[in-house]
Amino acid sequence: MDALYRSYDHMLDICNRLESIADSLPAHIDALSCAALAIELPDALQRTHDEEERALLPILSVSKLPELRNVASRLRREHALDQVNAMEIRETLLALASNSLTLSGDAAGYQLRAFFESLRRHVSAEQDILALLGHVPSSNGSVH
Ligand SMILES: [Fe+2]
Repeated sequence: MDALYRSYDHMLDICNRLESIADSLPAHIDALSCAALAIELPDALQRTHDEEERALLPILSVSKLPELRNVASRLRREHALDQVNAMEIRETLLALASNSLTLSGDAAGYQLRAFFESLRRHVSAEQDILALLGHVPSSNGSVH
């Protein structure tokens, strides 16, 4: 699970950097940070989802508890939505980096905040699930 925890740390760092950009709108934009995040975000998100598909979601998907199987389905739906939204965020970051934003500063800030706040909630929920799984003995068969 170490790789997954590292992925979460990376995603939360990206959220913090997106928040800094949102806070800097509209007048104090760091173009280099925007360009770097535009490149980094989609790959980091994909790597996190890949790691979850390897280390977390199979455990939930085969659980005897329907609630945990439902959690796996919901997380996968959220991943698909986050991937679509990440591409929109990428476009906004590239526009900010090249000073070609067509959105208002308020609209771009709202878009960034909606994304990173949703991502923080998602990661927090997954970290809670991992903590719960760690406290459920696998020998009782309740989740494995
Ligand atoms: Fe996830």
